[in-house]
Amino acid sequence: MLDGFCRTIDYIRISVTDRCNLRCRYCMPPEGITCLPMHEILSYEETIHLCRIFAELGVRKVKITGGEPFVRRNVCHLIRAIKDIPGVDSVTITTNGILALQHLKELKAIGIDGINFSLDTLDPEIFRQITGTDALSDVLKAIDAAAAIGIPNIKINCVPVQGSNTEDIPGIAAFAKNYPFHVRFIELMPIGLGKDYQSVPESDIRRILETAYGSLLPAEGTFGNGPAHYSHIDGFRGHIGFISAMSHMFCEQCNRIRLTADGQLKTCLFYEKGVNLKPLLRSHHSDEEIMHQISLALHDKPKHHDLDSLSPEHRGMSQIGG
Ligand code: GTP
Ligand code: 5AD
Ligand code: SF4
Repeated sequence: MLDGFCRTIDYIRISVTDRCNLRCRYCMPPEGITCLPMHEILSYEETIHLCRIFAELGVRKVKITGGEPFVRRNVCHLIRAIKDIPGVDSVTITTNGILALQHLKELKAIGIDGINFSLDTLDPEIFRQITGTDALSDVLKAIDAAAAIGIPNIKINCVPVQGSNTEDIPGIAAFAKNYPFHVRFIELMPIGLGKDYQSVPESDIRRILETAYGSLLPAEGTFGNGPAHYSHIDGFRGHIGFISAMSHMFCEQCNRIRLTADGQLKTCLFYEKGVNLKPLLRSHHSDEEIMHQISLALHDKPKHHDLDSLSPEHRGMSQIGG
């Protein structure tokens, strides 16, 4: 599947819920957001139907996101069904880890291709300040258990924010020293509440890591389906990745589209247009018609993100799935 700029689109991020059990302060207000009513959310049958269509169009990699995906009941049922779709090579999930532990055995049995855990700090007090909960130990337990059970391709996502968790950067990076995990540092994007905080540029993170661990060398190979670029540190078992939408725009290599929990196909994280697939599904349009609408939306996928043109009504990160 090609977009209007001849980029191959083979990766879809599917948000299964806009609900979350954390309140990361750069993402959600403490009181939460008005969540979608259940009838607005695609059923698993509808999502699986769309996944079959996307696979037929050439999508090979599926990322399950939220909100927090494990807040949705039976998400493993969906993952299993997507794994079974011919053409789908990889199904991975991005989670805050709080509820992950109880699902790990099933995920392993299904053959999940990777789990990304969000972890911004190792300090319980800073964790509470950032997320509004005391659940750091649950996340750490889940990460440990995922490694012990043999879940492949475990990654840690950390969003450094000025004046909050920058001191944690070496400690979080140490996961890649002690485990065969890739640790990625994400530049905070000015979307929703993210606008109220100051991001830490990749160059600063590199400096902090080089001071702690020595040179960051370019890493050979590909380690996922997303926009991260990777470096290696001598003696580390995993790599250090950077997702630097602000300082190193990666739109030229964009390979992805997004499906929100209520069925909106988004062709860019920062672009509201796209196509609402839910009414097409619910009024029984043919697969051919749905494919046609997807192709039209893809043709309109922007060349690159344009943060200046974001409308105030734009969905927040938790409503898109990152
Ligand atoms: P894998 O490496 O295959 O696991 O994929 P990934 O890095 O895309 O997955 P993950 O869900 O862990 O996303 C990490 C961060 O990358 C999140 O903060 C996403 O919002 C961000 N991200 C993913 N795709 C895009 C994109 O197209 N544009 C921007 N600006 N950010 C993105
Ligand atoms: N900018 C960058 N990353 C963000 N995330 C949430 N909000 C933002 C933002 N404004 C991250 C989470 C999680 C990942 C899925 O997206 O911290 O690691
Ligand atoms: Fe935190 Fe992710 Fe939940 Fe947002 S959606 S509050 S970043 S865990």
